[in-house]
Amino acid sequence: MSLQNEQHINSDLLDDDTPTDLERIVNLKRRSFIGAGALCGAAFFLGGNLLSGNALASQVSQAARGNSGRAARPLLGFQNVPASTADQVVLPAGYEFRNLISWGEPLFSNVPDFKHDGTNTSEDQELQFGDNNDGMCFFPFYNKFGRIDPDRALIAINNEYTNYEYLFSDGRQPSSPDDVRKALAAEGVSVIEVRRRAGRWVFKRDSRYNRRVHGNVMMDIKGPAAGHDLLRTSVELSGKRARGTFQNCSSGQTPWGTYLTCEENFNGCFGSTDKNIKLNAAQKRYGLSANSDNNWYPHNERFDLAKHPNEANHFGWIVEIDPFNPDSTPVKRTALGRFKHENAAVTTTQDGRVVVYMGDDERGEFIYKFVSDRRYNPNTPLANRDILDHGTLYVAKFDDGDGDVNHPKGRGQWIELTYGKNGLTKANGFNSQAEVLIHARLAGSQVGATRMDRPEWIAVSPINGQVFCTLTNNSRRGSADMPVNGPNPRANNIYGQILRWEEPNPAALTFDWDLFIVAGNPAVHPEDPYDGSENINADNMFNSPDGLGFDEAGRLWIQTDGDDSNKGDYAGMGNNQMLCADPNTGEIRRFLVGPVGCEVTGLSFSPDYKTMFVGFQHPTGGFPDYLPNGRPRSTVIAITRRDGGVIGA
Ligand code: FEO
Ligand code: CA
Ligand code: CA
Ligand code: CA
Repeated sequence: MSLQNEQHINSDLLDDDTPTDLERIVNLKRRSFIGAGALCGAAFFLGGNLLSGNALASQVSQAARGNSGRAARPLLGFQNVPASTADQVVLPAGYEFRNLISWGEPLFSNVPDFKHDGTNTSEDQELQFGDNNDGMCFFPFYNKFGRIDPDRALIAINNEYTNYEYLFSDGRQPSSPDDVRKALAAEGVSVIEVRRRAGRWVFKRDSRYNRRVHGNVMMDIKGPAAGHDLLRTSVELSGKRARGTFQNCSSGQTPWGTYLTCEENFNGCFGSTDKNIKLNAAQKRYGLSANSDNNWYPHNERFDLAKHPNEANHFGWIVEIDPFNPDSTPVKRTALGRFKHENAAVTTTQDGRVVVYMGDDERGEFIYKFVSDRRYNPNTPLANRDILDHGTLYVAKFDDGDGDVNHPKGRGQWIELTYGKNGLTKANGFNSQAEVLIHARLAGSQVGATRMDRPEWIAVSPINGQVFCTLTNNSRRGSADMPVNGPNPRANNIYGQILRWEEPNPAALTFDWDLFIVAGNPAVHPEDPYDGSENINADNMFNSPDGLGFDEAGRLWIQTDGDDSNKGDYAGMGNNQMLCADPNTGEIRRFLVGPVGCEVTGLSFSPDYKTMFVGFQHPTGGFPDYLPNGRPRSTVIAITRRDGGVIGA
C-alpha cells in the first residue's frame, strides 16, 4: 500500500455527507485552525479557519488586553507546583508521567541498545534516537473517512546538539572523521511512531515510519536562493543540494501534514584551519569564526571555512520533512530566510495563504514573518508541497511604546524584505532576492528592524489570533550599540519577557504590542524593574522563558531554559520548569519542574489533549535511568492525569 493512502489527507471525506461525518469535518476544521496557532500536536486537516475574519477582529479587540479584569472562565485547573532542586520530575497532584523515549533508544530491533559507557558506534547512533531532544510535533493518522486514528501517530522530534562528555567513552572532543560522523548522527531529527496501548502512548520500535534525518542525510535546497553562487560548493556544484541538517532547535507543523525543523546555532559547527582567514561581514554577522565549539573542521573538511566557504550557507534554514513518507527528501526552504531559526509558528489567513512567524535567537536579532503567495488547498495536497517557496518575507520594527517598564505597549510594523525595495539594492550590497534571503540578518539591519532580546519560540492563540514570543534574556542589552527599547525595556536583561502582538489579520503590515509577562524575582528585587510584571510572584517566578505553545482551550504553556542555580538573582526559582498562563486573566501557575541540569523544551499533545509530551534536554544528574555509573540522557516524557482528564484543565 502506498504510504500516501495511509496519510491523513483523503478526498473521500468530502464525498461522505452523513451527519456524523459532517460533524467530524467541522471538528477537524476547527482542529486544523487550532493546530495552526497552537502547539504542534493538534492536527491540521482541511485548513478551515473558523475563527478568522470579522469574528477574529472582534474577539481580538475584546480580548486585547488580558489584564483588563474581564470575567472569563478559569482556564487553570491544577495546583501550582513549588520550585524544586530535586533530580526528578515534579508534577501537580493528580498527574503522572512515563518516559516515552530517551537519547540512544534503538529505532529498530537490529540496532544495539544504548551503552552507558559511550561505546555505541556512529552506525548505531544513525539508527538510534538522537541526542538533546528539542521541538516536536504530533502527527495523527487518519482513516479513509478522515477520522483520526485514536491509537496511532507519528511524532517528529528535533535533536539539537550533542554533549561530547556523554557521546564519547572518554568525553573528549571529536578527534577522527568517525567521531564527527557520530556527532552528526546524534543531531537532526528523529521521526518515531507511537501507539496508544491501555490508554498510554508508547514508542513503537521497528515501525517503517521510524527514521533519522541527521547531519549526513542528503536534502534539496528550494526557493528563490536555490542554485545561487553562494550555495555552490566544490562538492555540491548545483547549489541545489545540501548534506544534512544539524543544530535543530524547535519546529512547526504545516496544514498539509509536514514538519518544519529549524536550524539554529550552525555557526559553531564551522571553523578554519587557516587561523589568519579573513571573514567577510556576512560571515561575521552569522557568528562564523576560525575557532569552533564543535571541532569538526579538523576531521571533516566540509566544516573548514578555509576550504569550503559556502558550506555554511547551506545551514540556518527551515527544512521541511514529510514524516509520512520515510523515503522523502527533506527540503531547505530558502524563501523563509537564513538566520538562527528557533521555531516556526504556522497559521493561515482567511483567504488561505500560509503565514509563518519566526524568531532569530541571538542577542539583538530580529523577528520575521513569511506570507505565502498561494493559498493552501486542502483538496489537492500535492499542490501545497511547494507553497513555502513563493511568498514575501517581512521583519518586525517596534516603536518605543509608552515606556512602562513592567507592562509597556505600543505599535509596530512589518517591513518587506524584497530585493529592490526598502533600500535592499545594489548600492547597499544586495544583488538579488537570493542574497537578501541568504543574508536575511543584513537585510533586516538595512531596513531598520528592531533588535530584540533573543527571540525564541512564537505561538499563535487559537482563541483570538494574538501572537506571543519569548524573549529569553539579553546580557548585552543596555550596551552602547544595543540601548533599551520598547519591547526590550531592561538593561542587562537577566530574566526575559514574553512579547504579545495582535494584527488585524495574519497578513497585516501593522500591529499592536505589549509585554504579557516580564519575568523577574520579586523576592530579591522587590523595588526595582527586575521584580517583573504584576502576574509574577514568589510562587511562580522563573527566568529565561523559551518553549511556548497553546493548547486548544487557549492555555499558554511556557518552558524555561535559564539559570537553575537557585542562588542570588535566581534564588527561589529552582530547576528549569514549565508554567501555564491564562492569557485572559494573566494568571500564571507552575505546572512542572524538570530534573537537575536540564532545560525543559519541546511540547505537544495527543489529539484529545489528555496526554502531553514534554522534553528534557541535557539533564546532568541521574535522570532518567538513575544508574550508579550511568549517563544522563535527554528524554521525552508523556504526562497524563490519573483521572484521565484534559491536561491543565
Ligand atoms: Fe535552541 Fe534558542 O534555543
Ligand atoms: Ca530554545
Ligand atoms: Ca534558550
Ligand atoms: Ca537548548
